[in-house]
Amino acid sequence: MISDNIRRRADGVLTFAGHSVPALAEQYGTPLYLMDEARIRRNCRIYLDTFRECFGTQALPLFAGKAASYKQIYRIVNEEGMGIDAVSVGEIHTALQAGFPADRIFFHGDGKTDADIRYAVTHRVGYFIVDNPEELQQLAEEAALQGIVQKVLLRITPGIDPHTYKALTTGIVDVKFGVPLETGQALAFVHRALSYPSLSVLGLHCHIGSQVFDESVFEDSVDVMTGFMAKLKEDFGFETKMLNVGGGYGVRYVDTDKQIDIPARIRRVAGRLKARAEELGLALPFFLMEPGRSIVADAGMTVYTVSSVKRIPGYKYYVVVDGSMADNPRYCLYGAQYTVLHADREPELYAVYDLAGRCCESGDIIQPAVKLPEDTRRGDHIAVCTTGAYNYSMASNYNRLARPPVVMLTAEGSYLAVRRETIEDLCALDL
Ligand code: LLP
Repeated sequence: MISDNIRRRADGVLTFAGHSVPALAEQYGTPLYLMDEARIRRNCRIYLDTFRECFGTQALPLFAGKAASYKQIYRIVNEEGMGIDAVSVGEIHTALQAGFPADRIFFHGDGKTDADIRYAVTHRVGYFIVDNPEELQQLAEEAALQGIVQKVLLRITPGIDPHTYKALTTGIVDVKFGVPLETGQALAFVHRALSYPSLSVLGLHCHIGSQVFDESVFEDSVDVMTGFMAKLKEDFGFETKMLNVGGGYGVRYVDTDKQIDIPARIRRVAGRLKARAEELGLALPFFLMEPGRSIVADAGMTVYTVSSVKRIPGYKYYVVVDGSMADNPRYCLYGAQYTVLHADREPELYAVYDLAGRCCESGDIIQPAVKLPEDTRRGDHIAVCTTGAYNYSMASNYNRLARPPVVMLTAEGSYLAVRRETIEDLCALDL
């Protein structure tokens, strides 16, 4: 199986986190997002334990809430002792509602408005990761107005290509995020940041991309960033106390994807950082990473019910389900691959189908060319694996479809983390 929390019983029924998938579909209805709570916790601990081993107390992994943002997730990652990366007041509000401590929130984003900045300063969010000089100016004014000194990291674009989907590449020079090193603008950015008495500049941030498998991307980041840290020390006498190298480790969606050994990778990054700090005469900075996908992706599964099966002789076969690009837009957006399984039985004969959604456009394909039983029919349950990251969080109400619920699975049973939207919810904002 693509993930070891997915099994098939002897009678052919698919299980996820030890629970029968068809039984969950009956209990909660479909489309349905399932989340394996133990897996989320395990994935957090991989980062927490390896960070502790490498850096003692001088490191913290931040869960990137953009991958999955709702109160129960923030409760779980808080219980595990993670910090979080938030990209909007919506994410911050959700985390605060879940009791997440504001001082472990790092506020990201390239488009923070004056109102966003005011909200986050008012709620005493621990750290801003400042993307651009305009934000710096506005934040400095707001912090001064509220009589506080705001802790900040500065987002730098190191000029590294992670070789992932183009839309997920963020570390090359020509992107909308951060301030580039190559052009000299980053140096000016830090210089300017240091001039504001209402800001305490603790360090630097970079993020290279997402769904990254390349071996050495993070070591390359460390090389570039420590080089820049040395320059800051030399030019401004500035000591970088925190270094955040972002998120991005890739996860397995299909059998041909590699399995990344995250502890081994982190140990190598830590080793490189320590070596470079020593070589350059720098104090070892507090170390941060921002994993999103690798915390929640393999904790998720989406379950659908088949509405129709179209076999067009000489052309294609389609399985149409009760979900769509509205609950999983990732194939439409990125050509993302998924493993798709029949949840009710192990077939003797397979056919190849496009798994299509119910939206009114031909492009609404959840996954092309998947192998499903030859006799797949209306009422069958279909599971799309590894949907814990960037599925619920990117879901929309396109075609006025109600978003599915998120059900959390535990050893004891299951509980609703997010209830199903109703058609009344869909009109809740209409006047
Ligand atoms: N930090 C920053 C600044 C980021 O921009 C991201 C992801 C992360 C951390 C977390 O990266 P992760 O560990 O999850 O790879 N919607 C796309 C993914 C967009 C990623 C955006 N930034 C998808 O569905 O694949």
